[in-house]
Amino acid sequence: MPKTDILIVGSGISGLFFAIKTARKRPDLSICIMTKEMASNTNTQLAQGGIAVVTNHLKDSFEQHIKDTLKSGAGLCDEEIVKMVIQQAPERLEELIELGASFDKNQEGQWDLGLEGGHSQHRILHHKDSSGLEIEKKLLSIITQTANIELLENHQVIELNTETTKRNEVNCTGAFFYDKNNNAIKYILTRAIVLSTGGCGQLFENTTNPAIATGDGIAMAARAGVEIEDMQYMQFHPTALSSGNKNPLFLISEAVRGFGAYIVNYEHKRFLFKYDLRGELATRDIVSRAISIEMLETQKKHVYLDCRHLDQADFFKHFPSISAHCNAIGLYPEKDLVPIVPAAHYQCGGIKVDRNGVTTIKNLYAIGECARTGLHGKNRLASNSLLEALVFAHQASKNIDKTIAAFIFSSKILLPKFSTVNIKNNYEPYLILKKELQKLITSFYASNDRDSHLAMLKIKMLKNEAENLIDRNEITIPFIEFSNMLTTALIIIKQCQPEKTHSC
Ligand code: SIN
Repeated sequence: MPKTDILIVGSGISGLFFAIKTARKRPDLSICIMTKEMASNTNTQLAQGGIAVVTNHLKDSFEQHIKDTLKSGAGLCDEEIVKMVIQQAPERLEELIELGASFDKNQEGQWDLGLEGGHSQHRILHHKDSSGLEIEKKLLSIITQTANIELLENHQVIELNTETTKRNEVNCTGAFFYDKNNNAIKYILTRAIVLSTGGCGQLFENTTNPAIATGDGIAMAARAGVEIEDMQYMQFHPTALSSGNKNPLFLISEAVRGFGAYIVNYEHKRFLFKYDLRGELATRDIVSRAISIEMLETQKKHVYLDCRHLDQADFFKHFPSISAHCNAIGLYPEKDLVPIVPAAHYQCGGIKVDRNGVTTIKNLYAIGECARTGLHGKNRLASNSLLEALVFAHQASKNIDKTIAAFIFSSKILLPKFSTVNIKNNYEPYLILKKELQKLITSFYASNDRDSHLAMLKIKMLKNEAENLIDRNEITIPFIEFSNMLTTALIIIKQCQPEKTHSC
């Protein structure tokens, strides 16, 4: 039976940074990373904007970054966590740079700091408009050269095994996973598990999140009895490129507005100052909501991003990927208005963790987007997510170094149900159910008059339909993923009550 001291689920920035730090500090520990597709297929690699870090203490300060974060979180941030993350940021950034990630500098050799919504200062370090891709590539190249890290692609973790000790504590002792390369379900023994499985944007019709963002970590943790919090706070990014029914939608970084782009309506007029004095640079919740109202009032399917007044050469230099993407579909931001809509972008809540990324099960950690750390409150401040991932990966790594000795391998498996079944992989019928689920959650979330009872009933019906697609003695991987989406959807519906909380 395979075994590893630490199993990391997911291959975005938090999981990879955690793995590298821990592997270097503890060469005696075996670390295994499982990821359900190719390792680079993550939300991280799609992150355009960058990392918010105070680097210029003459113009900026930790206090200002803390204040901006608390304001964006609208009263629900944990102030101690906010302080910890922001004060640690320069150290974590330095480590990331030591690992090879590079960030743009200006002609004077200083960091070329970007501005984004809700920030009172320019403080976003970026690698053109593909900061996440740069980080993902550099971290993955180190992972593949590190002797005590094994990276298993196309390995989907499907269930966590827990055991109650004599002292009545629950431990996480292993996980079932589907090895797509060999079409087999297997079990791995572990001493600790780190979930870094990202978010659940795929529950919505319009999202910037890739197809993998199906809430797997949230659902597995919930089934294991771990506390999940604040799932009602889904963040909508105001500027996703409107392209009909496409899913995911292409993101147009908030940095474009920080660079001076306007948002205009069908009459080509700016309208955001009606909603907030900061106009286009208000926080995402405010800008997204304003756009939604404008779309509703004008009965139009989108508004526009107007970049026509910006310096063309400079725009292209800062945003080569965005320019290339637009050009490929016949849009030229220097002369055309770019149609945009708000889209589900970031899950502010998630698996409840302490300042070390520890969940309510002591040897189960959650870091990155799947975790609810207390940093974001109701609405994450732009470019605070890569930062949170680094800081909590560091905290979890430090903590596990001290605690892992207390956890020994245990071969008691409480979930024998996967061993004798046929495995099937027909995704087709689930795509229809997935669309129904996305429609349900999108309209539930946007409604001013939510009927959670009816929404739960519909989830139950979708579950029955999904179950009818499989025989009793077979398991299908799309069913597992779809079940995770249903579980996460139910949590959102339950946590949305009674307060009206939607961002858009
Ligand atoms: C963006 O570039 O607008 C996205 C960055 C983030 O999600 O903070």
